Amino acid sequence: MVADEPGVLYDEVPYPGRPFDQTHPDRLATLGRLYGLRSAAPSRCRLLELGCGDGGNLLPMACTLPASQFVGVDVSQRAVAAARARTEELGIDNVRFEESSLADFAPEPGSFDFVIAHGVYSWVDEPVRDALMAVSARALAEQGVAYVSYNTLPGGRLRDILRDILRSHVDPTDAPQRQLASAREMLAVLQAAWAYDTELHTLGSLAAKMLDDSDALLFHDTLAPVNARLHFEQFTEHAAGHGLQFLAEANFWEMQVGWLPHELRDGVLATDDRLRREQLLDQLRMRTFRQTLLCHASNALDDTPPLDRLATLAVSAQAQASAAQPDGRVTFTGANGSNLTTDHGVVIAALERVIAAWPAILPIAELWPSDALAEDRQIVCEALLRCYSAALASVHAEPAAFGTSAATHPRVTAMARLQAREGALVANLRHDAVTLDDPARALVMLLDGTRDRAALLAGLADAVEGPVARSELALWLERSLTQLAQSALLLAS
Ligand SMILES: C[S@@+](CC[C@H](N)C(=O)[O-])C[C@H]1O[C@@H](n2cnc3c(N)ncnc32)[C@H](O)[C@@H]1O
Repeated sequence: MVADEPGVLYDEVPYPGRPFDQTHPDRLATLGRLYGLRSAAPSRCRLLELGCGDGGNLLPMACTLPASQFVGVDVSQRAVAAARARTEELGIDNVRFEESSLADFAPEPGSFDFVIAHGVYSWVDEPVRDALMAVSARALAEQGVAYVSYNTLPGGRLRDILRDILRSHVDPTDAPQRQLASAREMLAVLQAAWAYDTELHTLGSLAAKMLDDSDALLFHDTLAPVNARLHFEQFTEHAAGHGLQFLAEANFWEMQVGWLPHELRDGVLATDDRLRREQLLDQLRMRTFRQTLLCHASNALDDTPPLDRLATLAVSAQAQASAAQPDGRVTFTGANGSNLTTDHGVVIAALERVIAAWPAILPIAELWPSDALAEDRQIVCEALLRCYSAALASVHAEPAAFGTSAATHPRVTAMARLQAREGALVANLRHDAVTLDDPARALVMLLDGTRDRAALLAGLADAVEGPVARSELALWLERSLTQLAQSALLLAS
């Protein structure tokens, strides 16, 4: 029998943590500043994570932001023990983990610049949900930003149909592995039954997608005893009850309407009421999940970010530039296929600099010549905002430099080495998860900054024998270091 106590289910089926870049203080500070807050600098901030699990999200932040302070709270004894063991191994002292229900956690009022709760709100019962909002409001500094993710309606209704079927098929008194096996059996049946039905094939595709979910996700998301879904307006009402207001979605591009037909943009969506527009967007998108940023209701916010604010921020882009057309136009295409075409020389030069610097993050104010006209600066900011809206570029609160493959003693963080030892997923310096194959994991484990090329080759010889021929090892090493640098894993020397 599986006990239904908070935390116990997570003790039985662990939920391995990972970095979520949308919760990083850089993301929260960027959006805070864009909409008018004086957000704390990510490199010197205080961040609280509610439901932090095994520290998979907090620990990489703590490693890369040594002058910031982090606190994680979780009710699962096993998760907190794992987080503390990793903290000790990493030898860092700017992060602390507390084993407590967030309902019993009482931080000093206003003591955190950022509060995050990812994957928690929808999966706890109503009193804890309310406590999550109350603790966030209490902990948050006057100019602070809170991040809360949750399941949304109406899109979530489709998932609820499957969840209801699975929960009626699975015996909750069975051991978790038995429950997972029954759920997967049923999903396979549903997928086959609905595959060719014109009305139901969408549900069939959803069943196929759930079949691919990890045990942790299927058990703690779909089969969870609590899985609250709510309309955006209900969520913002709940926040308002605790003195908090909507700031933005953590993904800036999700708030944009450019992808919709003109009739809709100029019609139903042409409202000045941001909350109403967001609610309508959920209906048009059938959105199932939100990652919403909140701040104290006492702050006056801008409806849209003023262009000149961009000049105080920084930018990065992983994109390609086309050759210039005879008329001077260049098309920039992002990793997600979105593009921007321009013939404006200052914009082309700025974007080419940003792309060449990837994965580095450059100050926007340094993208134009010092004697650039105000009008040109404005045009560059406008182009960057368009790129940000289309997820072709990312905007950041602080610039950052990373290591290159040319370093004589290449180095990754202690966290990346620890993660490479544990599995395939490691956090990069942009707080993204990077998946490594076994030879790359062996290499990352050696990159503590003490080894030159000869020492790396000696260390790798046995570890990667088989997948990499000995005669090709030196070539493979150079290629792999270039890839690690491009993946933002190498520290600046
Ligand atoms: C789905 S997991 C998400 C973990 C992590 N935030 C992530 O996204 O990877 C939910 C987490 O919330 C924790 N949790 C559940 N109820 C809680 C409570 N009442 N107080 C504190 N943590 C709680 C669980 O132990 C678990 O670690």
